[in-house]
Amino acid sequence: MAVKMIQAVIRPEKLDGVMNALEEKGLVALTVTNVRGRGEQRGIALEFRGMVTRVELLPKVKIELVVRDDEVDPAIQAIRASAKTGNIGDGKIFVLPVEMVGKVRTEEVWR
Ligand SMILES: Nc1ncnc2c1ncn2[C@@H]1O[C@H](COP(=O)(O)OP(=O)(O)OP(=O)(O)O)[C@@H](O)[C@H]1O
Ligand SMILES: [Mg+2]
Repeated sequence: MAVKMIQAVIRPEKLDGVMNALEEKGLVALTVTNVRGRGEQRGIALEFRGMVTRVELLPKVKIELVVRDDEVDPAIQAIRASAKTGNIGDGKIFVLPVEMVGKVRTEEVWR
């Protein structure tokens, strides 16, 4: 069974909604990490009392889930639909090949 890792970097406030949307597709196992990042706009410029400061790295949440090949498209659709605001900074989705998944408790192996 071929598997892929999906990494999605999203807005932190969208995490609950994205997890619910993935669960509706039967995808429950995942890892969540608080990260900082920047995209094409290189962070954001903030203006306060005439002073412009650039915030180079914005807080984001990274979701990682390893799924079967046939679950990749449903997962991407679920993430897109639930994480989108339509504004810049909504996030990014990456799909990576996975060599092997081994469960610790049993001898179960996916490749
Ligand atoms: N090429 C990339 N490589 C690694 N991480 C990225 C990349 N692009 C975006 N990210 C991560 O995704 C987060 C959100 O990116 P963002 O949504 O701003 O992407 P974007 O390409 O600038 O899209 P948009 O134009 O909609 O803002 C970034 O803070 C960063 O953590
Ligand atoms: Mg951006």
